[in-house]
Amino acid sequence: MEFIPVFRPLLGCEEKEACNQVLDIGWLGMGKNVGEFENELQNFIETKDRFVACVSTGHAALHLGLIVAGVGPGDEVITPSFNNIADFQAILATGASPVFCDIENDTLCIDLDKAEKLITPRTKALIVMDYDCVLCDHDRIRDLAEKYNLRVIHDAAHSFGSRYKGKRIGSFSDICMFSFDPVKTLTCIDGGALIVRSEEEIEKIYEMRLVGMGQPPKIMYQNQRAWTYDVRHIGYRYHMANLHAKIGSAQLAKFNEISSSRQFVCKYYNEQFKELEKVVTPKTDFNDITPFLYYIRVPASVREGLREHLRELNIDTGIHWQPGHWFSLFKNCRKGDLSVTDTIGNEILSLPLHSCMNDEHIERVVKGLKSFNWG
Ligand SMILES: Cc1ncc(COP(=O)(O)O)c(C=O)c1O
Repeated sequence: MEFIPVFRPLLGCEEKEACNQVLDIGWLGMGKNVGEFENELQNFIETKDRFVACVSTGHAALHLGLIVAGVGPGDEVITPSFNNIADFQAILATGASPVFCDIENDTLCIDLDKAEKLITPRTKALIVMDYDCVLCDHDRIRDLAEKYNLRVIHDAAHSFGSRYKGKRIGSFSDICMFSFDPVKTLTCIDGGALIVRSEEEIEKIYEMRLVGMGQPPKIMYQNQRAWTYDVRHIGYRYHMANLHAKIGSAQLAKFNEISSSRQFVCKYYNEQFKELEKVVTPKTDFNDITPFLYYIRVPASVREGLREHLRELNIDTGIHWQPGHWFSLFKNCRKGDLSVTDTIGNEILSLPLHSCMNDEHIERVVKGLKSFNWG
């Protein structure tokens, strides 16, 4: 029986052709294809008043986003504890400390009432993350940030392609980031993007992603480089390479297929799992959502048994995630009441979701869950 992984990218001859084109030209580092991909992303998120910079990973985007937000040593950044390690490490990398906040039981996104209670004079920014296939309350987030003069880093690693109140994710936040890592809805093999509102911020990001070299993108986007330049900012080797950008463009060109196939699977899962009393499914109709992951919640006492049952049927499952405050590195970080996070951390389970699942794969997952002895 074929193994069904949790993730599998939709790759075809378009991506292979894209790689060949870049390899034939031979300008492998940052260049023309990165500039093109940035323009395509800007059009895709339907914005004219934002600036897009592609970087090497989502983690790099978070790190640079926090730096341009002015986060540094001694500051605190409030983040859901139920988030990716990349977010916590990016905060630490600036010299600031994460402050762990709880999530809402329904959306699994940051609980803003609890976040407000954690704000102190040291709080510089909030990281908010759209979890899997549910979006945060971004209007309330903006109001809270304005009230306390905080910057907002919107981690949209899971919500690329979705719409919030009709607006594309990436088009309305203070600072927004995407990840295009190997398992994401749209992959560049590895990559990320940062979307900011001001020219000053984007210029700084252009330099910081190139170990601080003040190489003008205008020159680099012609597959050329300047040999003399100034260095004005701290920098990292965080730029995106042409090969990755070209794969991203090929993926973007078939994004409708990627998005609709994932929506189809998630809607079907939600419908089918209604009859399973002990399974809690995501609270969304998926209509404006391009889902990255499909998660369910099951009682903590049966989770390992269910995983084992599916493993025997050659179906993989994932855990996104163990909460941040459970890790040794973060045990001394400030935190609020994390009761929902602690519960969810033991109940959450990701099921296979790809952009190319055939009917047999989908049915096997559904039957796998239905054939489990729920007790
Ligand atoms: C919510 C979230 N933020 C950030 C990241 C980091 O992105 P990357 O893997 O591209 O560094 C991930 C990666 O899985 C993620 O899920």
